[in-house]
Amino acid sequence: MAVLELVTAPDPRLKSLSEPVTDIDKKLRRFMADMVETMYAANGVGLAAIQVGVPKSVAVIDLDPKGPNSKVIYLINPKIVRTSDEMSTYHEGCLSVPEIWDDVKRPARLTVEYQDENGAEQVVDADGLFATCLQHEIDHINGRLFIDHLSRLKRSIALRKSAKLKNKG
Ligand code: NI
Repeated sequence: MAVLELVTAPDPRLKSLSEPVTDIDKKLRRFMADMVETMYAANGVGLAAIQVGVPKSVAVIDLDPKGPNSKVIYLINPKIVRTSDEMSTYHEGCLSVPEIWDDVKRPARLTVEYQDENGAEQVVDADGLFATCLQHEIDHINGRLFIDHLSRLKRSIALRKSAKLKNKG
């Protein structure tokens, strides 16, 4: 396994639409294992493939990476099929927008269909942090960052900060 290099804003790749995965094979599983290692190394709870520069409809989530409930969810071709009218707000951050956190309002509950790492069809109903995380990762797959949910002013401040961090190396 390997820790991969993270793509950070304002890199234009983060705005690209990721492509559906057709071959769920050993190579993809190896790549997803690298994504998990990269997520853990960066202290994240979720990572989409485009964040390591690969425009594939793939993400990994572990809501309790260092805790007793640590469990990786491998999401391939995830799609939101239902959302609640009720909204909830979480203070979000993103490995591709370092050192920025802000409140984002999203549907409180949702249903997502996806394929797992073995290619089996799965359906999950989520709420709480899991619901937020799923929507955040599916946004990445669709070329959106959490800061795209903020005001223009807040977004431009975040992008400027991220660009400055990148130039520092
Ligand atoms: Ni993110």
